[in-house]
Amino acid sequence: MVHDDLKRLRRLYGDFIRDDALYNERSYTLLRTDVNLLYDEIKEAFRRIIVSCKGPEGVDRLRVLEIGAAWGQRLRMFVEFGFLPENLFGVDLLPHFVKVARRLSPSSSSFLVADSQQLPFTNDSFDIVFQCMVFSSLLDRSIRKRIGREMVRVTSPSGKIVWIDDGDPSYIRKHSGEIFYQGVSFEEVAAEIFPDAKITRYPRIILKKNKLKKCLTESSSPYSPYHKLKYAFHSLFRGNRRHEVLVIKPRKDNA
Ligand SMILES: C[S@@+](CC[C@H](N)C(=O)[O-])C[C@H]1O[C@@H](n2cnc3c(N)ncnc32)[C@H](O)[C@@H]1O
Repeated sequence: MVHDDLKRLRRLYGDFIRDDALYNERSYTLLRTDVNLLYDEIKEAFRRIIVSCKGPEGVDRLRVLEIGAAWGQRLRMFVEFGFLPENLFGVDLLPHFVKVARRLSPSSSSFLVADSQQLPFTNDSFDIVFQCMVFSSLLDRSIRKRIGREMVRVTSPSGKIVWIDDGDPSYIRKHSGEIFYQGVSFEEVAAEIFPDAKITRYPRIILKKNKLKKCLTESSSPYSPYHKLKYAFHSLFRGNRRHEVLVIKPRKDNA
């Protein structure tokens, strides 16, 4: 089945990949101040979730899947948390990203080209299945629902789904006049994407774009404690933060 929304996404990301300024391994380097600030926040959110959710055994036994893994930057955080690289799996729609992820990640981790509407894994394969900023790039709600069902299918009965994504549907971004990004409301997540699940809502993270800009003189400005302090100050106000951090426990028949 070829979906218009996926065609749009391939075309758009194709543009980004050709355009060296966006969405390639160089532009997502942590040398960039804005990328670094976001990276720190996302990593801390994962750390908190893992600490509060992990069972009595160590994390070295847990299998993790990231959907829409792009260049694998989020998945590699898990190696630093003590997960074994061979237990880490990532899928992405675009071969270019998968190629980059393989180059940058431990060779025992697995990165596959796949559409997350049909994940190439058997039922109950993973302890943690996560997505970070993937659903906000999918505008078709039926695709969002199908990916949600697949994430549930491959999560083990004791496993959890982690969601980090823009929670504000009024926030839209365009490229060449075309929408390519839209936040997903918590209501849609709870009612449509994971209707049969217990959802724990963590504090929102990541500053709204206009607030983020206030923390940076320009995006390439040197990283300094001053930027961190400004970022932390603006983050004190809940209304300034845009991204939902959710832990989703699907109700599975075999649980
Ligand atoms: C905004 S990027 C986010 C990348 C990464 N997860 C992060 O946190 O920075 C969205 C990614 O989702 C991928 N993607 C979108 N739809 C997908 C699908 N149906 N199956 C697999 N990957 C998909 C895109 O190719 C892209 O790499």
